[in-house]
Amino acid sequence: MEFFVDTADVNEIRELAETGLLDGVTTNPSLIMKSGRDIMEVTKEICGIVDGPVSAEVTALDYEGMMREAAVLAKIADNICIKLPLTMDGLKACKALTSDGHKTNVTLCFSANQALLAAKAGATYISPFIGRLDDMAIDGMELIEDIRTIYDNYDFKTKILAASIRTVNHVKEAALIGADVATVPPSTLKALVKHPLTDKGIEGFLADWAKTGQKIGG
Ligand code: G3P
Repeated sequence: MEFFVDTADVNEIRELAETGLLDGVTTNPSLIMKSGRDIMEVTKEICGIVDGPVSAEVTALDYEGMMREAAVLAKIADNICIKLPLTMDGLKACKALTSDGHKTNVTLCFSANQALLAAKAGATYISPFIGRLDDMAIDGMELIEDIRTIYDNYDFKTKILAASIRTVNHVKEAALIGADVATVPPSTLKALVKHPLTDKGIEGFLADWAKTGQKIGG
């Protein structure tokens, strides 16, 4: 499973990129707003930190507007992935941009049929939103499962990018189902490594080690 971080905070991205565990970044207009920075400037900086795909989202609602914005965003760097909303115009733009050789991420997916359309439009990634479905008492993970089945049935190459992830359990369940990528907030990504028994184990080993009076390497 690939890990993307879902943020426009360059300090968080830099810290996670240094671990070597980060495969890409996703942003959206809300995350850009949260960063307090100019979209072009912050996206360019992010593209310089990670080699993998960096999703930058269009804000136009019509096909022509989306294509215009996509052309601007695509110029930022080679690793830009154009993020488009799951609407008819978004799918039309997805088809055109994919045919032009761009990476695309179709976002705000809440149904298996929407995901089927995105795959037919040639999307590089489909972003089903788990947390926002869970918020409505609908099992977000069931959607990931349905999309996995449909994509496997027809051998669609579109990658399932599990989004709106809120918990470490979301990551585990998406991985069990076989989502290709999870885009995860920085705090949740960092929490994946945590286990109280790991901490307790280290504590115990270090206490015993201190009793030996030894040092590795002098
Ligand atoms: O990037 C899209 C998605 O991950 C947003 O998540 O928590 O705002 O539903 P959330």
